[in-house]
Amino acid sequence: MPGGSRTNRRSAESVRAESLQPPQLSVSPELFRKFQQLIYSETGIWLGNSKTALLSGRLYRRLMTLGIPTLKEYYELVSVPDGLEERARMIDAITTNETRFFREPRQFDFLVEQAFPRWSAEATQGLRPKRVRIWSAGCASGEEPYSLAMLLAQYLPAEQGWDARIFATDISNRVLEKARHGIYDATRSEGIPKELLRKFMLRGFADQQGRVKIKVGIQEMVDFARLNLNQSPYPVDGPFDVILCRNVLIYFNAESRKRAVTSLLGHLAPNGYLFVGHAENLTSVSTQLRSIEPTIYVKTTSATGPSVTVLEGTESDPERQRAIATSASR
Ligand SMILES: C[S@@+](CC[C@H](N)C(=O)[O-])C[C@H]1O[C@@H](n2cnc3c(N)ncnc32)[C@H](O)[C@@H]1O
Repeated sequence: MPGGSRTNRRSAESVRAESLQPPQLSVSPELFRKFQQLIYSETGIWLGNSKTALLSGRLYRRLMTLGIPTLKEYYELVSVPDGLEERARMIDAITTNETRFFREPRQFDFLVEQAFPRWSAEATQGLRPKRVRIWSAGCASGEEPYSLAMLLAQYLPAEQGWDARIFATDISNRVLEKARHGIYDATRSEGIPKELLRKFMLRGFADQQGRVKIKVGIQEMVDFARLNLNQSPYPVDGPFDVILCRNVLIYFNAESRKRAVTSLLGHLAPNGYLFVGHAENLTSVSTQLRSIEPTIYVKTTSATGPSVTVLEGTESDPERQRAIATSASR
């Protein structure tokens, strides 16, 4: 009967919708505080007191997979010293991994318009080798480091003697696995300039229809590794000409953010650039950093310059306030 089948279909849909919305696992304030501390000490990420729904929502699927009914029991599993593997899985579930190709395009324009010409001129004058190292710290599923690799291949190509490499790290194994594959929904390639898209990406067909893949030559320019920015010293070579740490430190608190920035600076070359996300503040972090435009800092060679104090909303320079607002709305 047509009416009956519609009813059945409706109820099947509502059941499916319910299963997509995880029911809330209960978490007492005391248990929440324990998770808060554990996640902070592991990652530097500070879950504010209003994030109880986020915690239980993001851990729900993991508990179901393990057949564990309560967050209390799950805490007992992840908090023991040899719960290392499960702690990594918990971090996979907790982290926010949103990213895009050529996100915050102004920073990529800055590389093309200012950094690359400077490095080229220096190489021509024999002031530097034709060697570029960039670190994408908190690279998520790879769109950021691949955007950088495409730019480097286009503007500082190996055929002209350049040796350019990207080091890309994240704390989440789940996103690193996706990054290494270099396969994305075609809709995600919208931010890639047409010429770079044509040159450096492949369109899928048959069972890969609707997907794009990073070409091997670009993939080979990127080394992916798991690295926790909250655990220094970092097992990393350097120095790097540019470090991008964008939309990562926003989840940290003042203390873990300062620690991470100080450690990152130890791996940045003199006159190297540090890029952060558009909504991020570097507040009196280091006498070695000078802001050159919103979200872009340069590591000064002397330690005598003023320390960077960027306080969105309390910034005294109105020009800069306007620039921050413009950059944030892009
Ligand atoms: C919102 S994504 C930003 C991705 C990219 N940088 C961008 O701006 O598009 C933040 C990434 O930082 C990673 N992350 C969070 N805490 C971290 C830590 N302690 N160490 C390393 N990576 C971390 C997360 O796993 C996530 O993939």
